[in-house]
Amino acid sequence: MAMPKPVLILNGPNLNMLGRREPSIYGAESLADIEAMCQREAGAHGLEVDFRQSNHEGQLVDWIQAVPGRHAGVIINAGAYSHTSVAVLDALRLLDEPLIEVHLSNIYRREAFRHRSYVSLAATGIICGLGARGYALAVRAMAELIGQQAQATWSGTQPSP
Ligand code: DQA
Repeated sequence: MAMPKPVLILNGPNLNMLGRREPSIYGAESLADIEAMCQREAGAHGLEVDFRQSNHEGQLVDWIQAVPGRHAGVIINAGAYSHTSVAVLDALRLLDEPLIEVHLSNIYRREAFRHRSYVSLAATGIICGLGARGYALAVRAMAELIGQQAQATWSGTQPSP
């Protein structure tokens, strides 16, 4: 079977500081460690990942707008923009591709302002509170979602029995 298009993994503001940033909440792994973990997990499922981080809301919007035709699905930890950005939500709503929202921490056990995520309004599924492992789980789930789509397309082209 042909290699599917890469999965885009987007990271929002301050996630470039992982490892140094509140390790009791976000863990000791750096973003580079998480990228390596995602690459390993993706390889095990025959997927490629395109892993990016930006501190800028408009940059995230530009990357999301460029997804159709280029990426098979999106995994996003939008950081603080999850709780504030209607612009990121509106961009995500343009997509037909599967979308998995990830947070390292369990946002529902934290301050009330973290309990609402705009990204969740567009997400296929959500993983939070499992630390860096959540990214690997998201890649695994994305492999299934993309596989399911491919299978649905394939069986849809078969003549009925
Ligand atoms: C986060 C949770 C957000 O509330 C916070 O602003 C982050 C990281 C997480 O991964 O747990 O930057 O998205």
